[in-house]
Amino acid sequence: MVQLALPKNSKVNKGKAWPVKDGGTRMKTFKIYRYDPEKGGNPYWDSYQIDLDNCGPMILDALFKIKNEIDPTLAFRRSCREGVCGSCAMNIGGRNTLACTKAIEDVAGKDITISPLPHMPVVRDLVPDLSQFYAQYASIEPWLHTTEAEPQTEYTQSPEDREKLDGYYECILCASCSTSCPSYWWNGDRYLGPAALLQAYRWLVDSRDQAKDERLNALEDPFKLYRCHTIMNCTNVCPKGLNPAKAIADVKKMMVDRA
Ligand code: SF4
Ligand code: FES
Repeated sequence: MVQLALPKNSKVNKGKAWPVKDGGTRMKTFKIYRYDPEKGGNPYWDSYQIDLDNCGPMILDALFKIKNEIDPTLAFRRSCREGVCGSCAMNIGGRNTLACTKAIEDVAGKDITISPLPHMPVVRDLVPDLSQFYAQYASIEPWLHTTEAEPQTEYTQSPEDREKLDGYYECILCASCSTSCPSYWWNGDRYLGPAALLQAYRWLVDSRDQAKDERLNALEDPFKLYRCHTIMNCTNVCPKGLNPAKAIADVKKMMVDRA
């Protein structure tokens, strides 16, 4: 995947090269995007050197080492540390992925650059503002729509129907796909983007849901759905190995089938 653009209106200056804390034989330089709106001014790249022999194997380990031992002002999001919460998504070495599941050894190049998810407003440092992303997710109404009386136990589903959700329910809403999509960069206010559309598909194929037509009506729009031009960055980048591009194509096919 190509090197991605940095967040809107960013003119990124050269920052500080932090002094090496403890020397070592396997030193690695991390160039990290820094931005503090309270200070004002442009963002900048700070660089930090870490001895890989004294650091855990993942990018998130390196970020913690920097924050705990070199620069406590560095801001980033994380929670589960094992690829299930989606909060540590960022751009690492030019590619969106999860810091907790990306091994330092697997990032090519002499130095490792780390910046926030592209083309999103930045709250601070590596923390993007995902308000719009979450509002788009809410707009597809990600809950069961049914007129049936609430069952005493659970809504049942055959194993075959349950299987139709595989490849979709695993989405952790990390936003790596949407923020790697040029259509989303240019029309993010009107195009729902691959993550929200994959989630929309997940409800469209749920055998327990009774609002298929209403859901399709809500997506029948030149921007919300049809701004997908099958660029495929979404599928190439998904850290969970999902295929949002196929989900979008299948939603388009549902539109044709019902016409
Ligand atoms: S489809 Fe993949 S990349 Fe997109 S939000 Fe879900 S888990 Fe993240
Ligand atoms: S910290 Fe939860 S996915 Fe990385």
